[in-house]
Amino acid sequence: MADLGIVPVQPTLGPDGDARPGEAVPVTATTAVPVAATTVQRAAEAAATAERRRIARELHDSVSQALFVLHRRAEVVERALDAGDETTLRAAAAGLREVSQQAIDELRAVLGDLRSAEAPAQGFGAALSALARWVRDTHELPVLVEVGADADAAVAGLGPEAARHLQRLVGEALHNTVKHARASGVLVHAAVEHGGPGRCLVVGVSDDGCGFPEPARPDPAETAAGRGHGQQTMRERARLCGGHLAVDSAAGEGTRVVVRIPLPGEGR
Ligand SMILES: Nc1ncnc2c1ncn2[C@@H]1O[C@H](COP(=O)(O)OP(=O)(O)OP(=O)(O)O)[C@@H](O)[C@H]1O
Ligand SMILES: [Mg+2]
Repeated sequence: MADLGIVPVQPTLGPDGDARPGEAVPVTATTAVPVAATTVQRAAEAAATAERRRIARELHDSVSQALFVLHRRAEVVERALDAGDETTLRAAAAGLREVSQQAIDELRAVLGDLRSAEAPAQGFGAALSALARWVRDTHELPVLVEVGADADAAVAGLGPEAARHLQRLVGEALHNTVKHARASGVLVHAAVEHGGPGRCLVVGVSDDGCGFPEPARPDPAETAAGRGHGQQTMRERARLCGGHLAVDSAAGEGTRVVVRIPLPGEGR
């Protein structure tokens, strides 16, 4: 049987549906057409699934959050109209214009990233401080950011793609705090921990809000209704950085979202 020398990589879908490279299979004359066709089809399906997930993550963590802010501002406008309060109405209308411009800018940035991902313009600590400022200004929620120089360097070492995932992950955790927690404050923390099998980057977002009884696994009913994608998105981002996400919460005891990413270095 003639070996055609083509060694396609059989793609497989991991448990999360992401594309995973599998075993290379030599293609022979008798198997060439069906195997190659199946392989190409599977590769295309895996690539399409991974791409759909990427677009879903980006839309969830940008546009849907921006629309949530617009929705809240529109409610303020309505209340001011009902109350005949022209001063509040003017301020709310100006806020609406400002936030909608931010949403437009955000959408442009996402579209740019989807076309060609460039390295984030600033370091991790600076990006989180800017995010915290935005949350403070927009939602009047105090956010404290503690990012050590070692964590900043560790994120830079993981590369631009991971840096973007981590920024988005923190963004969704903060957004959840704004939306659900009724918290009086949030701490965003990033550090490199030593111990166990080696070094580990730890990024956490902790609020002192109402918490929730069950660490949220996506609820099928919520997902069907178009809600509850945040937990899944954060888990995917943590995994794509080579790490793991844990959500620690209990009713009345706040929420702590923590991602741990093993780092290369001594002891590994
Ligand atoms: N910080 C928090 N404090 C209190 N409850 C939270 C917090 N974060 C998440 N939750 C609860 O977990 C649920 C799932 O969160 P998730 O981010 O997956 O979905 P969502 O925010 O409701 O919708 P989506 O993120 O898709 O817009 C929330 O609906 C909320 O009940
Ligand atoms: Mg959410």
